[in-house]
Amino acid sequence: MNASPSSAREASQRQFGANAANYATSEVHAKGASLGRIVELVAPQPHWRALDIATAAGHTAFALAPHVASVTATDVTSEMLDVAAAGAVERGIENVTFEYADAHDLPFDAATFDLVVCRIAPHHFEDPATFVAEAARVLAPGGTFGVVDNLAPEDPATATWCDDFERRRDLSHLRCLPISEWLAHIEAAGLVDAAVETMGKLMKFVPWAENMSVPDEVRAQLLADLAGANEQVVAWLRPDLGDEPSFVLTEGLFTACKP
Ligand SMILES: C[S@@+](CC[C@H](N)C(=O)[O-])C[C@H]1O[C@@H](n2cnc3c(N)ncnc32)[C@H](O)[C@@H]1O
Repeated sequence: MNASPSSAREASQRQFGANAANYATSEVHAKGASLGRIVELVAPQPHWRALDIATAAGHTAFALAPHVASVTATDVTSEMLDVAAAGAVERGIENVTFEYADAHDLPFDAATFDLVVCRIAPHHFEDPATFVAEAARVLAPGGTFGVVDNLAPEDPATATWCDDFERRRDLSHLRCLPISEWLAHIEAAGLVDAAVETMGKLMKFVPWAENMSVPDEVRAQLLADLAGANEQVVAWLRPDLGDEPSFVLTEGLFTACKP
């Protein structure tokens, strides 16, 4: 197990620590279509012990909680864990516990969980392969892995443009992966029966920028860059630069099993 280099983890802690409250109400996190769909895809069972990695404000943990025996919700940002714990109290949810854990070095024994999920977070992780290997390690034989993340296009130049665009909003963004790389990590971790679905997610530019408290001059530059983007970027992000600017991110929903 490799610990995440502290610089990447600290960037997330700074960025999410300062904006923790925004994630409790963020529409794409609290109500995004991938939330209900990943719960359906992993088919949770009442006796299961579940782990939610990078829970942020706890939305995925809360969606799973009614369907399983327990959820351990983890993150590296203490402000996020506080917001999530308060959210559980508000909702009267009693089977979710909150704990600090780095996705690269999970503080759990092998075969502890029946289900491991992680939603819209691995693009912050320094080493996604280690994260998937760690998820596989803590899964019991027969356990289920589910991950949702914003995808990169397979074309590296377009992927780099999109990562740079996102990183200027969120300094802790590292890299989105294309489907081929996710499937390779899942296979390398020894997980089987991998399946993938994709979903478009409309990102309204103003709330997207506000969630991370982006300064006005950076917002203006991001909009200008979107307006000047090349054909490949436009085909991937489908920007609408009308009165309410927006673009589309594509989420990948992956499931696999531990043999
Ligand atoms: C966009 S939020 C996740 C959203 C959440 N899973 C949901 O479904 O609403 C990203 C989270 O990843 C966490 N994070 C970043 N790097 C991490 C790491 N190495 N290990 C665990 N969590 C990490 C951040 O602190 C942040 O709370």
